[in-house]
Amino acid sequence: MKEIALELERRRAAAELGGGQERIDAQHQRGKLTARERLTVLLDADSFEEWDIFVEHRCTDFGMADKTVPGDGVVTGYGTINGRDVFVFSQDFTVLGGSLSEAHAGKICKVMDQAMKVGAPVIGLNDSGGARIQEGIDSLAGYAEIFQRNVMASGVIPQISIIMGPCAGGAVYSPAMTDFIFMVRDTSYMYVTGPEVVKTVTHESVTHEELGGAVTHSTRSGVADGSFDNDVETLIGVRRFVDFLPSNNREKVPRRDSGDSVERVEQSLDTLVPNNPNTPYDMKELILKIVDERDFFELQPDHAGNIVIGLARMGGGTIGVVANQPAVLAGCLDIQSSVKAARFVRFCDAFNIPIVTLVDVPGFLPGTKQEYGGIIKHGAKLLYAYAECTVPKVTVIVRKAYGGAYDVMASKHLRGDINFAWPSAEIAVMGPKGAVEIIFREDRDDEERISARTEDYRQKFANPFYAGHRGFIDDVILPRHTRTRICRSLRMLERKQLKNPWRKHGNIPL
Ligand code: HXC
Repeated sequence: MKEIALELERRRAAAELGGGQERIDAQHQRGKLTARERLTVLLDADSFEEWDIFVEHRCTDFGMADKTVPGDGVVTGYGTINGRDVFVFSQDFTVLGGSLSEAHAGKICKVMDQAMKVGAPVIGLNDSGGARIQEGIDSLAGYAEIFQRNVMASGVIPQISIIMGPCAGGAVYSPAMTDFIFMVRDTSYMYVTGPEVVKTVTHESVTHEELGGAVTHSTRSGVADGSFDNDVETLIGVRRFVDFLPSNNREKVPRRDSGDSVERVEQSLDTLVPNNPNTPYDMKELILKIVDERDFFELQPDHAGNIVIGLARMGGGTIGVVANQPAVLAGCLDIQSSVKAARFVRFCDAFNIPIVTLVDVPGFLPGTKQEYGGIIKHGAKLLYAYAECTVPKVTVIVRKAYGGAYDVMASKHLRGDINFAWPSAEIAVMGPKGAVEIIFREDRDDEERISARTEDYRQKFANPFYAGHRGFIDDVILPRHTRTRICRSLRMLERKQLKNPWRKHGNIPL
């Protein structure tokens, strides 16, 4: 027994050393933590239960028989984050560049399968040179096994990818199918083909960072939901994020009651909206002032800034916030913002997270760039997502709600449960001036008449009362009472029951 215990200790120590001290030092020199160190930051102290530490690959080609390392380049198992179970895999770049073999993939699939059985999130820490080249097709098969599980788990358990090193080629498609991707600035990158291939095919010269670094994906492409300065900040950020999420699609959202009263009155909101309807203001100020303890986890903050999305709590329970941002592109809906918000709405709907929508939208962004880029199809994604979703929906029209964009932004007609408007709300087909110039085309050159008619139109439609007469909004509320009115609505909606008709699946305009 003692012999075996010693052998166990020896084997564990060998596994824990991964690719050896030299490679661990190299990892540190790059400013990166090792796979195991990362898990100690991500998980609660002493909560990690490791599996498959003794698994080794079975490849004998290309000298691989002598290159076995227990664990085969990925650390897997489960642990807790603030007391709640999460399943994890953490690729170890010190072992054959964290490359994915058949055995390595098998370990990842094992945690994914168990996570599905118990209904807990999977968090993948990616740091890998991709398919283990020596294994060829076996490695590709391993990726496909993971992809299939990503799809089956979608909408059942939350899946989070953290990119902490290379993630290239087809390997990017596993993170791409998870719900959220977070990246580390300067040390992680994702692309389908690297700079050398790009140079050969398109003759473009581009660095790893420019092509697929954290800045690229959290600003231009929108592939990443957030980026952080280093490993530790990223992992702590993900811990904070996971706290907002239910563990699976059958659970209610987690509750964290704070001392922040639902009856809190926020006087300063009464002066948030400027008198001039064309003057911008920062919608994030409104969000921070109505959510519990100003705690808002914004997603994709640097991409498609004309719409703001993220998770917060109101009255203790998690909510998803979707808000037009008048400070960027006047809050117009365009291709990127529609896609950004649509996917988020669907995530919230899949995981029982009520959606609070804050509206100040002058319409869809005009122009050939938008039309040629397919704004019709992409805008329809957001419309579809809101119309399909059955979770509680509370909407506040803060200022403009014009045209098709009024319909899209969780209007009453798309089964909005509670729709409020501020006194500053303008609910109409379009802005007063544009409307008058079309209806009274013959007066176009008569400035006086146009301005009289514009005022007339403004009186009639640029206020919340016409929509109120029709019952399209449930009440006009004072800005200072916004938090209380939303919190009461959410509490009332906790027992909401709504089901869509049975179908295999709908056909969202992808
Ligand atoms: C086997 C690999 C490997 C891989 C790296 N290594 N990637 N071994 N298969 N895919 C090994 C290296 O040989 C090296 O071993 C060690 O890991 C560290 O790699 P370095 O190159 O020294 O590190 P670095 O300079 O930091 O460069 C990292 C890298 C580079 C950019 C990731 O290693 C690289 O380009 N690797 C190949 C990437 C690739 O083409 N992968 C296949 C993509 S196709 P030694 O013992 O020499 O130190 C793919 C298909 C997926 O993934 C399809 C899914 C559908």
